[in-house]
Amino acid sequence: MRTPLIAGNWKMNGSAALIESFGKTFASAALPANIDVVVIPPFPYLDAARHAFSNTPLQLGAQTLNPHHSGAHTGEVSGSMLKEFGVAYVLVGHSERRQLYRESDEQVFDRLLAALDTGLTPILCVGETLEERDAGRTMDVVLRQVGYIMARLAPEQRLQIVIAYEPVWAIGTGRTATPEQAQEVMAGIRAYQAGFDASLAEQLKLLYGGSMNASNAAELLAQPDIDGGLVGGASLKTDDFYAICQSAG
Ligand code: PGA
Repeated sequence: MRTPLIAGNWKMNGSAALIESFGKTFASAALPANIDVVVIPPFPYLDAARHAFSNTPLQLGAQTLNPHHSGAHTGEVSGSMLKEFGVAYVLVGHSERRQLYRESDEQVFDRLLAALDTGLTPILCVGETLEERDAGRTMDVVLRQVGYIMARLAPEQRLQIVIAYEPVWAIGTGRTATPEQAQEVMAGIRAYQAGFDASLAEQLKLLYGGSMNASNAAELLAQPDIDGGLVGGASLKTDDFYAICQSAG
């Protein structure tokens, strides 16, 4: 059985007040048993969040990492630094990083490997643009992104990653993929993994991301191949994020 995972990606948003509000709400939270909830704030908030969340079930994630351990990389943050500050998960290959910061598959792979090397769980983000979907290329694009990474990992490493399917046209647009659209692609990702190893396909945790909110989460999370959500905008409102976590039980 795959444990549901709800991750809130704050992107370049958030505040000390939001951290405090999450800490208070989730300290008294009656979350469904056996679910993982991860908050992914910008770097400067990580340490404050670690303290504010110490009496809550919330775990910490980071939005990116540099592939190097340390050194002359001004402005960058390494996996070992994140680990030292209590981070358990890290996003790699988010479409905003692929598009705005031109991260290639190769760079995404290097970051993912650095995450595994430092004992962080990478959440690999993949997804097609609207143009690619309209051209009927969704499955090709998504499986190429997944395949690039999977083909380069050792069998035991493949078991240590989480994959988030995030159609680019659904991110921050209010236009969610229908549960059927999301399920179709995610079943395809899982079937593809079976080509490596049937038990990997069974164990792999798959998240949906793209305008998931308190109203549509339950229906998306009810799909057989959707094990959780990567939530952007709705993770900036404590009550909405809490409601999404409730629907993951
Ligand atoms: P969204 O963002 O929920 O605001 O669409 C999701 C994401 O980018 O991870």
